[in-house]
Amino acid sequence: MAETVLDLDLSNIQGIGPRKREKLIDGGIESVLDLAAALPGDVKEVLGGNREGASRMLLSARIFLEKSGLMDKEFMTADEVLERRRTLMRCTTGSEGFDDLLKGGIETQAITELFGEFGTGKSQICHTLAAMCQLPLEEGGLGGTCLFIDTENTFRPERLKEIAEARELDSSEILKRVVLCKVYNSSHLELVVRSLGKYIEQYGARLVVVDSVISLHRAEFIGRGTLAERQQRLNDMIHRLLRVGEIYNVAVVVTNQVLARPDLFFGDPTKPTGGHVIAHACTYRIYLKKAARDRVAVIVDSPCHPYSETRFRITEKGIEDV
Ligand SMILES: Nc1ncnc2c1ncn2[C@@H]1O[C@H](COP(=O)(O)OP(=O)(O)O)[C@@H](O)[C@H]1O
Ligand SMILES: [Mg+2]
Repeated sequence: MAETVLDLDLSNIQGIGPRKREKLIDGGIESVLDLAAALPGDVKEVLGGNREGASRMLLSARIFLEKSGLMDKEFMTADEVLERRRTLMRCTTGSEGFDDLLKGGIETQAITELFGEFGTGKSQICHTLAAMCQLPLEEGGLGGTCLFIDTENTFRPERLKEIAEARELDSSEILKRVVLCKVYNSSHLELVVRSLGKYIEQYGARLVVVDSVISLHRAEFIGRGTLAERQQRLNDMIHRLLRVGEIYNVAVVVTNQVLARPDLFFGDPTKPTGGHVIAHACTYRIYLKKAARDRVAVIVDSPCHPYSETRFRITEKGIEDV
């Protein structure tokens, strides 16, 4: 989608004259795509004025993209939706079983959440995907680069190199096409997510990884009094991610840790953190658990996948079938 030759200058939008255009660009909203992916509050912050004006401007940007065929209409017939879904792409995970679980791999225009306890392979899957997304479409990749947002300082280029070599890929090329972004606190992460569209275009990304998506917020917002604000900010961020995925036709993969609750005998010990906010925005949620030397992945709450699970193993290839 991003490779279109369509003119996406902000001046195409009714009501945006040269002054507003300049202000928006200064505020980091550089194109119609950025505007459509923004939230009313962003525009209001940059331009002043009221929320209604800002909302109208976003709507105009969305309509512009709809008319250009770059974005879904708010209302579509089922056959139009099906047609739209044909433009989505799937990225192989490196494990056939895992791909089958996802009906062909990680989807673009969606958020896939990997959740599980520490050591269940979330980051290993992310490393593997960072390499696989670079394969051409006919080999199961997305033919693009990976933006890897690392909040836990667990990204290892050595590991990526090992995975590439074990898969007989040119590791020096693979390493060049994974763009790492280390973030240090929740505000920094929110800022990066706001500017994601720009980076996706700049680096030709087809996959965005956020490993992990809520640990910073969880660490910084402690105590009951701060919960509402935390959830609000997470909600904002995760919806931005989803919109970016849709507008730029990229796959978004986020990880989420669950806490082991050995004290919990009743109820679901495997609830991911983040509550409803994360649950509602993520398109696919995959629960990971240890099973002796292997790992098990279970797809939960999918709109179109029946309950199913698969076994995989963490090896020098990243992840692969048992
Ligand atoms: N090169 C490797 N070969 C085999 N297993 C590995 C390799 N690197 C890491 N692992 C395994 O991956 C697991 C950690 O997975 P990780 O993805 O970091 O967990 P998390 O879910 O916490 O992100 C450990 O059990 C470790 O033994
Ligand atoms: Mg990890």
